[in-house]
Amino acid sequence: MIDPEVQKTRSMTFEINPVIVSRWSPRSFVPSEISDKELFSLFESARWAPSSSNSQPWRFIYAKRDSPNWNDFFNLLIDFNKQWCADASALVVIISRKNFENNGQPSLTHQFDTGASWENLAIQAVSQGLVTHAMAGFDYAKARTTLGVPDDFEVMAMIAIGKRGPKDKLSPELQARETPNTRKPLSEIVMDGKFGNKAKSL
Ligand SMILES: Cc1cc2nc3c(=O)[nH]c(=O)nc-3n(C[C@H](O)[C@H](O)[C@H](O)COP(=O)(O)O)c2cc1C
Repeated sequence: MIDPEVQKTRSMTFEINPVIVSRWSPRSFVPSEISDKELFSLFESARWAPSSSNSQPWRFIYAKRDSPNWNDFFNLLIDFNKQWCADASALVVIISRKNFENNGQPSLTHQFDTGASWENLAIQAVSQGLVTHAMAGFDYAKARTTLGVPDDFEVMAMIAIGKRGPKDKLSPELQARETPNTRKPLSEIVMDGKFGNKAKSL
């Protein structure tokens, strides 16, 4: 069942699992604790993503709100993200191993693999009644030093996780953006056989 709020702005050409289209990235959170059971189910879902040679390059470094590490994580964010992240239940920095563990060779797909694991997490969050919001708006170099990320890992993104809050607690500018957005049509992203060739059924 697709959430009516999502249905207002998102439409599909072909049928899909409703949980996929119901994932979006709100910015209003209710300040609330997240239990290990809830949070670790999200990491568990990330763990089951596919990866090149099953190398599993993803790592997740987290801080729950009210934990001693929260301020270190929060202070990595740019001001734009700080204005809406303060009420999140957890912040997570996602890093990805650049080389294969077994032979040290560079992995051409580690970001692709780690991206798949983040999407698993985001989809699992929907099914647990939680919301996630990925961010590139933070200090990547500072994240590396503050969190002690080794050189063979690349810092990928941060995510805010929490319980969705009311829209009206956001600034007017953010309220205007607090709605599920749309996507390019399939005809623009799918090609039959050769770049630029449209598929007949689109
Ligand atoms: C890697 C990545 C970085 C992002 N960085 C930010 C960010 O710094 N601040 C922000 O408010 N949203 C950020 N977003 C959220 C995107 O704008 C959002 O995912 C996109 O507009 C699609 O909307 P949806 O997630 O609601 O479907 C980021 C998303 C991703 C995947």
